[in-house]
Amino acid sequence: MSPYRTTRTLPEDATGAALRADVLHGLTRTPKTLPPKWFYDARGSELFEEITRLPEYYPTRAEREILVARAPDIAAATGARTLVELGSGSSDKTRHLLDALTGVHTYVPVDVSESALAGAARSLLAERPSLRVHALIADFTTRLTPPDTPGPRLVAFLGGTIGNLLPAERAAFLASVRALLAPGDALLLGTDLVKEESVLVRAYDDAAGVTAAFNKNVLTVLDRELGADFRADDFDHVALWDRENEWIEMRLRARRSLTAKIPELGLAVHFEAGEEMRTEVSAKFRQEGVRAELGRAGLELAHWWTDGEGRFALSLATVA
Ligand code: AVJ
Repeated sequence: MSPYRTTRTLPEDATGAALRADVLHGLTRTPKTLPPKWFYDARGSELFEEITRLPEYYPTRAEREILVARAPDIAAATGARTLVELGSGSSDKTRHLLDALTGVHTYVPVDVSESALAGAARSLLAERPSLRVHALIADFTTRLTPPDTPGPRLVAFLGGTIGNLLPAERAAFLASVRALLAPGDALLLGTDLVKEESVLVRAYDDAAGVTAAFNKNVLTVLDRELGADFRADDFDHVALWDRENEWIEMRLRARRSLTAKIPELGLAVHFEAGEEMRTEVSAKFRQEGVRAELGRAGLELAHWWTDGEGRFALSLATVA
């Protein structure tokens, strides 16, 4: 009996098919867009890990501070026996939760990356031999069918990744999370908060250029996966604060007029000089907005915890 099991709800080629659909859709409309999930190949995941250590990128440290301080409160408030983590990646911050959630014997990490899941499970199981890990290879933005594990369940969605979804996508996502929860279950949600523009922009346009490399990495993904001929040098990294929508936008701006070929899609995509393609939205939140969005999904904000500087929040929501 192995303590590590996996369930795949993604067809083997789902990733390739989804990439082709997203690129075809995003690069044939005006303005051009690409969804941020395609940043995260092996190199992109490495660059993101590097971003989390940058002096300008505060969200990871702020969220860890809250987790460390509040894990006992989270344990007391939920009495969780199963921890489900959406977009678990390296499961780095999960340790703080597992340390405090002494009733949790089953951990269900959910991620599209099978290699990230296996690596995370291996190191977690080495530290906690009694933990059962049932990994779910799945895209958390689509319908989820988690394994039948003991309740109460705590579903965690950390890092502020919910900010990558547009408002309508967030509503659909929160409704699907709500559908996973039974009475007595809870959602732990990480959200970056609205703050001074210069602080936000610096977090997405660091002095060392790591975020620029991360942004341009999506072009490398298209070159490798779709046979495209994008060149990173033809684009500039742009990070801007949209104060109306209260989100950071990352874009790639063409330095010259160019036409990129994407043979796998039978497509040639023209960029005017200076044309910008949106590669990421990273929404920033306020407490009232989070409460309202949870409420519309049938969830009730039970706790709101921030770091000492009020930069980031963890919300604990229960079934309304
Ligand atoms: C992983 C989605 C939370 O939006 O801050 C970091 C990704 N993009 N720097 C974020 C990201 C640019 C990050 N999330």
